[in-house]
Amino acid sequence: MHGRVVVVGSLNMDLVTRAERLPRAGETLAGESFTTVPGGKGANQAVAAARLGASVAMIGCVGDDAYGRQLRDGLVAEGIDSQAVEVVAGVSSGVALIVVDAASQNAIVIVAGSNGCLLPDSIARFDALLQDADAIVCQMEVPPQTVAYALARGRALGKTVILNPAPATGPLPLEWLANIDYLIPNESESSALTGLPVTDLSSAEAVALHLRDLGVARVIVTLGAEGALLVGAEGSEHFAAPVVQAVDTTAAGDTFVGGFAAALARGCSEREAILFGQRAAAISVTRAGAQPSIPGLAELGA
Ligand code: RIB
Repeated sequence: MHGRVVVVGSLNMDLVTRAERLPRAGETLAGESFTTVPGGKGANQAVAAARLGASVAMIGCVGDDAYGRQLRDGLVAEGIDSQAVEVVAGVSSGVALIVVDAASQNAIVIVAGSNGCLLPDSIARFDALLQDADAIVCQMEVPPQTVAYALARGRALGKTVILNPAPATGPLPLEWLANIDYLIPNESESSALTGLPVTDLSSAEAVALHLRDLGVARVIVTLGAEGALLVGAEGSEHFAAPVVQAVDTTAAGDTFVGGFAAALARGCSEREAILFGQRAAAISVTRAGAQPSIPGLAELGA
């Protein structure tokens, strides 16, 4: 069975430089390489869900430029229903400026461009896609009113609603929380959402419990090499990460979210979906770039 996943979110062209280390403020640093790679948290999660077995539709916006055509064509080539990826005239496509250091950590600056044009009306026009979905996945690289609309509509339709609150700059509006089945932040996002530090497993647990107590049904904090922490009504469970040699962690979180959503949508249990997402994310960090790094089902032996 193919579960159906709808992703509401961003598409970016990633402009990626590798350098020995991340630059300091005011510093000019020589990079080692430069590539342009299809990315954007929304598109990455859509590609991950599609490669990992779901039937996927994406709702988003690209600019009427070369990057926009490349990003949309890339989704179509993955078999993703892209009828709701609209081309906005006179606006540049979203871009992400990414530096990856020798330790495989990254720093990212995004410029929203056409992602800022994805408004609730666009989602409403493609309501049939939401009605057909098993799971609806959102992130926060598109306007907040659009995220709010998609979460509320997903809840009203009785779908599994997943929010990856990335990037997070502060607390989520309280009225969003009851509309989210799974909130999936990483360490820094959990900290931004709550104002509490996340430095280890126990501080991650404290933050996840705090988010749950505010009204989110289930929270999964992704912790990179330290794995993932699930917190629900019954308490918490830690899932260790597969041990791999990381080359580039860009889109590891997106691969987890897409894989998790694909697995849930096809009827896997929550635990199975977390383990599946983790295995996919572990493979993605062994390769460079956002979408090129995302594995398919065959690589997971599934
Ligand atoms: O999560 C990784 C993504 O964040 C990159 O592909 C980049 O586009 C930014 O959106």
